[in-house]
Amino acid sequence: EKGGWSSFMAKEVSEQPDAVANTLRGRIAGAAVVVPELTAFGDDALRDIRRIVIVACGTASYAGQVGKYAIEKWTRIPVDVELSHEFRYRDPVLTADTLVISISQSGETMDTLMAVKYARDAGAKAISICNTQGATIPRESDAVIYTHAGPEVAVASTKAFVAQITALYLFALHLARVRGSLSEAEQAEQVVELQGIPAKIATTLLQESTVHELANWMSDTRAVLFLGRHVGFPIALEGALKLKELAYIHAEGFAAGELKHGPIALIEPGQPVFVVVPSPRGSAHLHPKVVSNIQEIRARGARIIAIAEEGDVAVLPFADTVIRIPLASPLFEPLLAVVPLQIFAMELATAKGLDVDQPRNLAKSVTVE
Ligand code: BG6
Repeated sequence: EKGGWSSFMAKEVSEQPDAVANTLRGRIAGAAVVVPELTAFGDDALRDIRRIVIVACGTASYAGQVGKYAIEKWTRIPVDVELSHEFRYRDPVLTADTLVISISQSGETMDTLMAVKYARDAGAKAISICNTQGATIPRESDAVIYTHAGPEVAVASTKAFVAQITALYLFALHLARVRGSLSEAEQAEQVVELQGIPAKIATTLLQESTVHELANWMSDTRAVLFLGRHVGFPIALEGALKLKELAYIHAEGFAAGELKHGPIALIEPGQPVFVVVPSPRGSAHLHPKVVSNIQEIRARGARIIAIAEEGDVAVLPFADTVIRIPLASPLFEPLLAVVPLQIFAMELATAKGLDVDQPRNLAKSVTVE
């Protein structure tokens, strides 16, 4: 079933352009997003939403954090992202105009299932984003948006993650259309951008050899830091999680702006730091701030691995390695920037002789609380 691939994870990483394309399929009508499952949920019900809470665990929760930026920007509805297991034990405020969106690849994660049940019992509506047809969480929800990424076998989630983010963008654009919070022209612009993402992921996959060299070079590294800002922040968290899961290396993701409030104390000569650099065009206000973060840690001896847009020359004087991603509008950059981080964790685990599909102590689907 692995085909010619060395692992299911390698296969699934390579399938990411198709995963995104399959999630988009049948949900774009001309220049607008129309998700049939949301049409069935009801335009009135969508118009009534005053607040959104996203519940998920692990990688799926980072997809939720990326989705928050898009939903808030396009719909102006406030979004909170909560770990499923923290959510229901703190007596959360839930009303009939709260929509709970659960995200789960398996659709069986007990913590997330219990959060959905709790929310519906409290009177909230629940929509699930799920990759597994007929799973328990979608059955316990008012509506489901399936990601159609195909079966994911490797324990560490990859193609399901990019499909989850894509589903959240579709949700946000559908909602924005129904509520009239985006102009038709703005909606059309996002649709074109979204349709271009699968090809851009395919281009990003071509960076594999750069990442491979890096992983071989770093095979005895003891700790790795990841920095990001805006939608790059959850990607930094995901990069760190992947490295913990697969290569058993201590890894932490930080918001780049938080660096000076503590984490910079960790920087010592030779410390590898991955930095997800925002686009100098699309995020002109954030790009110089992240470049200056890079300068600060470089001056303290950090070894910088920058994930930066093609043509971004500002990073060149300070980065030891630059991994290039194609140009994309800022909200869509996570779908590209995460790819080298997945490959890095996979290659480093391989260099250490570890089983990338079945990391120790982990299960694909955790059906206990
Ligand atoms: C963890 C898996 O146990 O569950 C992660 O190891 C996954 O890879 C998380 O992100 C959530 O799983 P699911 O199926 O709810 O998306």
